[in-house]
Amino acid sequence: MKNNILNIKYPIIQAPMNWVTNAELVAAVSNAGGMGILGTNAGQSEVVNDPRAVADRMRQEIRKTKELTSNSFGINILTPPEGMNLDSSKFTKAILKSAFEEKIHYFAVVGTAHKETFDVIKQYGGVIIFRPLTPSIEQAQLAEQLGADVIVATGHDEGGILPNDERGTFTVVGDILDAVSIPVFAAGGINDKRTADAAFSLGASGIYVGTRFLVATESPVAKNIKDLIVESASEDTVMVSGNQRAISTNRAKYFSNSFVKSHDTSAVNQMISKDGGLRKSMLMGNANEGVITVNNGISSIKGKSAVSEIIEELLK
Ligand SMILES: Cc1cc2nc3c(=O)[nH]c(=O)nc-3n(C[C@H](O)[C@H](O)[C@H](O)COP(=O)(O)O)c2cc1C
Repeated sequence: MKNNILNIKYPIIQAPMNWVTNAELVAAVSNAGGMGILGTNAGQSEVVNDPRAVADRMRQEIRKTKELTSNSFGINILTPPEGMNLDSSKFTKAILKSAFEEKIHYFAVVGTAHKETFDVIKQYGGVIIFRPLTPSIEQAQLAEQLGADVIVATGHDEGGILPNDERGTFTVVGDILDAVSIPVFAAGGINDKRTADAAFSLGASGIYVGTRFLVATESPVAKNIKDLIVESASEDTVMVSGNQRAISTNRAKYFSNSFVKSHDTSAVNQMISKDGGLRKSMLMGNANEGVITVNNGISSIKGKSAVSEIIEELLK
């Protein structure tokens, strides 16, 4: 990779995942030669609604991560909604302030190529790993102009909140690579050596991996949920709304049926979030509350192992 701007031994970024990418997981990835990224609610199990409290929790998790690794790691920053400024996104603003004070250098900025957010991070001297939520050539080129250092091209294969169109990783990575001259990392459905090799064959400089790390020994995901992910096949997933895929538990089927009836993604997503989202299911292990969101390639996740073994398996 050009200049190894990320200062990592292996070209792999662990994708931030709400509630489940805490200090232990992030430090394990960074210690193994990749880059760990702290996600929102990292290290927590309770919901708080005060931006200052959220930022303070993030500060503590950053400090904890620093105690566990001296290698590069980053944090997740969600950009304000289109047309809004940073002042309107109180959580993002407060988390950025904590991150700057704690001297975080790497920012996994996710959303849209938001000029004010990019400017603030660049003026501070941070490195921007930008993942457009819906990857487009326009967003990638705009991000490059605004100073992004790395672009993540995400296919609809991924876990989490999905892009607004259904183009898969194969299509998206090539399109974005042809559009920009900064390094492109591939995301979406990369769970094993075969899919990692495919991403590199497409020309990606690195891989950005979420779902595969859910079952890592160091991940805080509940044991019964890790087992369920390992035992489930790709066919055992269901779209629970227009932009979320989950393992087809009874609760997930209920949401899926609600979506079939209403076709209202935001209404169903609100139901899911009220029901406990990922926190109740993935973190606390209540498989019938909330959803277990994963990518569409989970057949290839065949066992739980340490982060270092997962990285070795992906990149050997
Ligand atoms: C359980 C789960 C939670 C996620 N939460 C977030 C999040 O809070 N912020 C974010 O930017 N992306 C989130 N994502 C998306 C990931 O950062 C990443 O784009 C995705 O996991 C990559 O695809 P893969 O799951 O196929 O490896 C989440 C993904 C999963 C599976």
